[in-house]
Amino acid sequence: MISFRTERPADVAAREALLDVAYGPVRFTKPSQRLRAQREPALAFVAAEQGRVIGTVRLWPVSAGGRPALLLGPLAVHPDCRRRGVGAALMRRALRAAAEAGHAAVLLVGDAAYYGRFGFSAEKTGALTMPGPYEPARLLALELAPGALDRAQGTIRVGTPRRAPRRVAAAAAVAHAA
Ligand SMILES: CC(C)(COP(=O)(O)OP(=O)(O)OC[C@H]1O[C@@H](n2cnc3c(N)ncnc32)[C@H](O)[C@@H]1OP(=O)(O)O)[C@@H](O)C(=O)NCCC(=O)NCCS
Repeated sequence: MISFRTERPADVAAREALLDVAYGPVRFTKPSQRLRAQREPALAFVAAEQGRVIGTVRLWPVSAGGRPALLLGPLAVHPDCRRRGVGAALMRRALRAAAEAGHAAVLLVGDAAYYGRFGFSAEKTGALTMPGPYEPARLLALELAPGALDRAQGTIRVGTPRRAPRRVAAAAAVAHAA
């Protein structure tokens, strides 16, 4: 059975090995990597089967022309486990979590032929750019809050992690004090 859960520190080595298999060393040269290096993701999920990490997806806080957003990627599923819906399940899990956490938009660089099924398109990214070489048609976005990327323009930059909503922070403080 495949389980989908938040990534744990113990998953990191297996996740990195999976990304090496899925993308090879080119993964370290992508402009998206400039927005991820030395940073913590806002959200990170793995798919696991019999204790083995077979899928990974992470989302990173960015600023899209001044609008707070998440940059999704890398998404990868082990070659032995593809076409079983693992990638789609990771995407749905990630997007649901992003919406529940109050994020307004998710960006990524990838194939519209794959990501279009989750609602991503280049419709709102025409005036946005990545900080490095990329194919503009592959810069895609999904608004979780309608209009979140209206008139967004400029280079996508490292963003500030969102603070927990006040009521969540208050609840955490109460739990800590108890
Ligand atoms: C892309 C990836 C995550 C999909 O994982 P998965 O678990 O096989 O995904 P799903 O089972 O949910 O969907 C599989 C479907 O997506 C299609 N698909 C996979 N990659 C695609 C792409 N780049 N463009 C269009 N369709 C794609 C498959 O052909 C398959 O189609 P089918 O349902 O008609 O058989 C996986 O193939 C992977 O890790 N690839 C290498 C890394 C990569 O290229 N990631 C970014 C993609 S831009």
